[in-house]
Amino acid sequence: MNLYKYVSDAINETLGFTANLEIPKNRDFGDFSTNAAMVGAKKAGKNPRELANEIIPKLQKLDFVEYISVAGPGFINIKIKDDFILNNTTIPTQIAAQKPLQIDLDYGSYNIGKALHIGHLRTTVVGDTFNRIANFVGHKTISYNHIGDWGRPIGLIIAWILEYGIPKNVAELNEIYPKSTMRAKQDEDWLNLARKITSELQSGNQEYLNIYNNFISMSLKQMDDILIRLNAKPFDKTIGEHGMSEYVPSVIKILKNKQLLQESDGALVVNVRNEQDNAPMPPLMIQNSANAQTYDAWDLAAIYYRSQNDKPDTVIYFTDSRQTLHFQQLFRVAKMADITTADLIHVGFGTITGTDGKPFKTRDGDVASLSDILNMVTTAVQERVAESNKKIDDNTINQIAVAAVKFNDLIHDVKSDYVFDAKSITNFEGRTGPYILYTAVRLAAVLKRANTDIVKPTSYALSAEERNLLIQIMDFEHMILSAFENRATDMLANYTYDLCQLANNFYHNCPILRDDITPEIKAGRLYITKLTFDTLATAIDLMGLQIPDEM
Ligand code: ARG
Repeated sequence: MNLYKYVSDAINETLGFTANLEIPKNRDFGDFSTNAAMVGAKKAGKNPRELANEIIPKLQKLDFVEYISVAGPGFINIKIKDDFILNNTTIPTQIAAQKPLQIDLDYGSYNIGKALHIGHLRTTVVGDTFNRIANFVGHKTISYNHIGDWGRPIGLIIAWILEYGIPKNVAELNEIYPKSTMRAKQDEDWLNLARKITSELQSGNQEYLNIYNNFISMSLKQMDDILIRLNAKPFDKTIGEHGMSEYVPSVIKILKNKQLLQESDGALVVNVRNEQDNAPMPPLMIQNSANAQTYDAWDLAAIYYRSQNDKPDTVIYFTDSRQTLHFQQLFRVAKMADITTADLIHVGFGTITGTDGKPFKTRDGDVASLSDILNMVTTAVQERVAESNKKIDDNTINQIAVAAVKFNDLIHDVKSDYVFDAKSITNFEGRTGPYILYTAVRLAAVLKRANTDIVKPTSYALSAEERNLLIQIMDFEHMILSAFENRATDMLANYTYDLCQLANNFYHNCPILRDDITPEIKAGRLYITKLTFDTLATAIDLMGLQIPDEM
């Protein structure tokens, strides 16, 4: 059950007005606290403490109330009955949304011809987790990998291939773009050649298209490999710049009809500045002076395409916060031109830095590729396992490494920067992925060793540890709905860490299978262990982590 909602609804119904319900950090004085007396006092023209004393007898009658007290200026603290907790704690299951939304998600959105790098970690991990959360709370999603496959980088790659031949493998392919970019910086003719190739590719040059088709499959395979390694769900649609290019003319037509399109130095732009802007707000560029389509144009066409095909209620983009301005411009144009009725939302990430505070690089100073990073973390896990004299198979080592990387990413607020340190994220203690998995493995081991049917006890006196743990389980639904509403995957990660802390407290203080434990207590504790494991497993699955068999 959603305890928070249950308590909140019951109080509001009893009092006939809406008060705020809070979960105090320290639950010693009460499991919930409400400002009902303050809210009511205003209307009644009474003193809040006085009103609190009138309200309390009414609330005392509610089925879940153990005792009520007044604190401070008139806050009402409520302690929940143990029986109520034990009888109503259930494992979280899929929620049916009151109004199921169609949500289009744009994350990943990698570039072909380039290795995925650290900058693609958060968009992948947060995007994938948000996708799972949205489905869990009852919404329909379509995930888009809006690949970068039709702009200048492709011209630079094709120019190189024309001169040096087709790359034999993906490692060779990944080297082309940096080399060709370097050359373009020193060699104006090379840059112009790349520009020309880009624009001719866009106009249908068959030779260039053949080359493009030749290396795109290698690139897509490389993306899939990383997604599989990260245990991220496959995208519903991998369609990006090239796929959207055929809709650009329709979008241009709409913009022309609405008289929004302007010429500016040979380019086609839409002005989005308005009087309230006091920060720079440049126009959105639909076509550049070389008559080529732009990044902006494909994103606008994608809004058009998605609106026609999916009729989304909401479109959410997960990218680096350096693209904030781009999305502001884009959303303004989409609304000015009435291209969509959907809510358009950009979730912008902070930067992942090294321990030196600068954007994370490898030892050689290159931008770290995502697979290099995963290898590095895998090595760190191997080292820890070797130190502790444990024997853990390679598959499990990989699951731990992936959990270390993903959990660390999820637990940080998406907007803030964070420091990436392979050593600390692989610690088996603390706010880490390995700690989460270890807790799950430990609970699973208890259930396995008990090897018995688990049933809800009819009556059982809860210890403080058990009580806190069950209340945390009952908070799951409230938490997951807030994580969805706020697009805050960190709420799920933090919740999971707290759940593990409570689970380990329970484990250490409430022996389960020891010989001196009575059958009644054993049955009660096994029941709580099972509820905890199932809740933790659900949280772990929503984060796209996997529980190893042994650890
Ligand atoms: N391809 C871009 C990059 O890797 C990100 C694209 C983000 N999504 C979008 N619809 N513009 O930096």
